[in-house]
Amino acid sequence: MLFSRQLARRPLIRAPRRWTHSPAALAGLKSVTEDDLVHFAHFLPPTSIVSTLSPSAAPSSELESFNNDWMNKYHGRSTTVLKPRTTEEVSKIVKWCNERRIGIVPQGGNTGLVGGSVPIRDELILSLSNMSKIRSFDDVSGILVADAGCVLQSLTDYLAPHNHIVPLDLGAKGSCQIGGNVSTNAGGLRLLRYGSLHGSVLGLEVVLPDGTILDQLTTLRKDNTGYDLKQLFIGAEGTLGIVTGVSILAAPAPQASNNVMLALPKFENVLPLYKETKRQLSEILSAFEFMDRTVYDLAVKHGQGRALNPEDVEGAECFVLVETSGGKREHDEQKLNSLLESLMEADVPLINTGVIATSPAQFSSLWAIREGLTEAVSKEGKAYKYDISVPLYKFQEVVDKTKNHLQEKGLLHEDAVKYVVGYGHVGDGNLHLNVVAAAYTPEIEAALEPFVYELVASYKGSISAEHGIGAMKTHALKYSKNETSIEWMKKIKALFDPNGIMNPGKVLP
Ligand code: FAD
Ligand code: MLT
Ligand code: ZN
Repeated sequence: MLFSRQLARRPLIRAPRRWTHSPAALAGLKSVTEDDLVHFAHFLPPTSIVSTLSPSAAPSSELESFNNDWMNKYHGRSTTVLKPRTTEEVSKIVKWCNERRIGIVPQGGNTGLVGGSVPIRDELILSLSNMSKIRSFDDVSGILVADAGCVLQSLTDYLAPHNHIVPLDLGAKGSCQIGGNVSTNAGGLRLLRYGSLHGSVLGLEVVLPDGTILDQLTTLRKDNTGYDLKQLFIGAEGTLGIVTGVSILAAPAPQASNNVMLALPKFENVLPLYKETKRQLSEILSAFEFMDRTVYDLAVKHGQGRALNPEDVEGAECFVLVETSGGKREHDEQKLNSLLESLMEADVPLINTGVIATSPAQFSSLWAIREGLTEAVSKEGKAYKYDISVPLYKFQEVVDKTKNHLQEKGLLHEDAVKYVVGYGHVGDGNLHLNVVAAAYTPEIEAALEPFVYELVASYKGSISAEHGIGAMKTHALKYSKNETSIEWMKKIKALFDPNGIMNPGKVLP
């Protein structure tokens, strides 16, 4: 599914040399200079250097999309973007920056939702967009080796004729890159079936902060030879090195896929429905996605797919999208139909109604609603996005408590917070709590934080289920990690990156 980036046009301010408000992590780091550009030009072609400092200075507007995140919430002021074509070029850039103490922000598709992919100050942006070659694919083992800059959708397209799929799918697939997916340990819509990238990534090639190339790009299913270093880079958000190559286990393409959108009278039915769906569909269940009524209506309003007739969903409090993927169409359809029949015929039905896709177009249209939620929310206003792990039965409570809290603060109205919505990956225990405001304001932020983080901690949940920590949650890491864990994370960071050049100010407090 393609989606458009909604980056507002804003004038870029030229980076000043002195910084008044800069996190400690950036203290001591240097700005890129014209001399640095002269050095980079020795091994990079002019098309790989975009800089407002170079003799043929790029207009600042050319850097705009690199300096601003997808939500247009986080803004960097980098003067320079480099787009290396090979791992060796990445290594030379990193080595030079390390020697000169220049901060680097690795950037993939820039679809991250926690401000990790844009600079805090004027760090150099290293874009992987020119590294987009598929290195190999073995259709017996299903192992795919690709450059980190390959866009997720392009890998899906490449694998389709080979009857395989990437074991990862998300709404940003038209822009996000596999290196970015690995670096955020993205979860997405297929985790229920295929598990996390910690399992499906078999090997990585990483340029370490001193420029050394760490080649762990194995294509082995089994390899118990001591510490599994690659795991450290999965979810490191570019703070330990730059991922340049990925070896991943692709899954055999399902021979038959079905989906159905179900309307539920009340939230309390979601869990019994999930239990019953798992019991009846067992091995063919591949997704179970939840959305509350408000966010469903926003998706429909913004034209993200067409689902149920409005008169059929009167009184529905929430919706669930169920997908099956299996090997035999009749068998899977029979299972799904008997599930739906049993749901409708129960003495106390768990669902009001539902719509089952009967063509590939309808299948895509149902998914378009779910995948379009992020964009629909962003069209309504400025979203404070909390991506949390909490027990399933607490999903609605979190949304309600947040709404009540904002109401008590007098912030729940058109000019402040317009909507508080919840959606997410039920099977993964992952709720996306989105607070949609007219604008990002310190007052709303102060009302939400630490309120939301304390709520999550009270359920022993996680403040980041899949989007990461980035710049957004460094101060809140303590709500999900104890002091000892944070200390060890800091030691690991210092070991790999003693000069603190890799994505400074991200992840660690
Ligand atoms: P970027 O945004 O460019 O970077 C993300 C982080 O990784 C940054 O810290 C960056 O420095 C680092 N990084 C990027 N590339 C590299 C590299 N090669 N080496 C080292 N560090 C690197 N996320 C989910 O988990 N599940 C979802 O379902 C999901 N759906 C989304 C839907 C939409 C519409 C949008 C806009 C976002 C969604 N996201 C989701 C968030 C985001 O798409 C993912 O986090 C994605 O994995 C980021 O990939 P990217 O290439 O855009 O990385
Ligand atoms: C999703 O599940 O849709 C993504 O994680 C993005 C989001 O939270 O909006
Ligand atoms: Zn998600």
